[in-house]
Amino acid sequence: MPAPRILLTGATGYIASHTWLALQAAGFEVLGVDNFANSSPLVLQRLHELAGRAPAFEQLDCTDEPALRALLARERVDAVVHFAALKAVGESTARPLDYHANNLGALLALCRAMQGRGIRRLVFSSSATVYGRPERLPLAEDARLEAVNPYGRSKLVGEQILADLGAADPAWQSAVLRYFNPVGAHASGRIGEDPRGTPNNLMPYVAQVAVGRRPWLQVFGNDYETPDGTGVRDYIHVLDLAEGHVAALRRLLDAPGSFTVNLGTGRGHSVLEVVAAYAAASGRDIPYRIAPRRPGDVAACWADPALAERLLGWRAQRGLAAMCEDSWRWQSLNPQGFAAAGDA
Ligand SMILES: NC(=O)c1ccc[n+]([C@@H]2O[C@H](COP(=O)([O-])OP(=O)(O)OC[C@H]3O[C@@H](n4cnc5c(N)ncnc54)[C@H](O)[C@@H]3O)[C@@H](O)[C@H]2O)c1
Repeated sequence: MPAPRILLTGATGYIASHTWLALQAAGFEVLGVDNFANSSPLVLQRLHELAGRAPAFEQLDCTDEPALRALLARERVDAVVHFAALKAVGESTARPLDYHANNLGALLALCRAMQGRGIRRLVFSSSATVYGRPERLPLAEDARLEAVNPYGRSKLVGEQILADLGAADPAWQSAVLRYFNPVGAHASGRIGEDPRGTPNNLMPYVAQVAVGRRPWLQVFGNDYETPDGTGVRDYIHVLDLAEGHVAALRRLLDAPGSFTVNLGTGRGHSVLEVVAAYAAASGRDIPYRIAPRRPGDVAACWADPALAERLLGWRAQRGLAAMCEDSWRWQSLNPQGFAAAGDA
């Protein structure tokens, strides 16, 4: 039996590039596609170097259904992991049509192209953002769902489309993975998160302050009802997240049915805890200033990860110190990200 072959969409992005290596390490074959809307082709060189073989890759826009159909007619694919999406919450509020056209357009085109070839196993990148404002913590999968911005709605509607598909045809199997806050990088320091423009998330911002690209961090709100007043989130190492995808795929390939699981650690850390851990990991000062709360931010959010452990036998292994150390190795070796990489 040949190894299962997995199509990764959004393959050169942050989470997908780490998942690519995890899948190969677990014995899967991988075929990647991306349109480079938010990633660099240099990722492919780094993957080649890290895996010791050339990655199978095609530049393709996932909203292009004919191109996906042609790809799936040419290539053997047993299951798909669909990462390709635009993900900036603020930008989604300013450009809702672009977000819905891309995120939902890509999902629809992909499912239709898969359907045409009888491929019915899909892992979908969802997000803890579908929980909106948590009513209680930790967040279990059956918590109330509420999307509060266009990006979140694109994920929630994506989940619903997959549920409709599974109801119409039980042969369709989907794994909806609700990620909490992915951070960190590959231990080699050769791939990592490389935000374009101002980072939207805390750890890449802190990393850029540590490396001297930005003068200080703005901490939005220190009057929340949390131990130190700053916002609390469930940060998960991207390598743990990558391994969660391997576990989800194994389950899809081995057992019938669909499932939705949280991928988080079950532990929350405040902004100031992250700042202190990053300062310790990097040996650098992280100057910060307190700014007003940002509209839409919740005080605290962390996962109940029990279902993922029960169903997939997966749990996050890496703590905050490792997340900061691995992020720092990537950031300090690549201060300008892939943009200024020497191996262009
Ligand atoms: N990083 C997070 O905090 C986070 C949290 C929850 C969920 N997610 C989801 O996880 C997935 C991966 O996120 P990431 O952080 O790696 O983001 P990323 O931007 O690094 O990766 C997404 C990749 O998809 C590609 N892409 C976008 N639209 C495409 C299209 N139409 N056709 C082909 N490629 C396309 C981009 O070029 C990029 O390489 C996304 O679906 C995102 O919404 C991310």
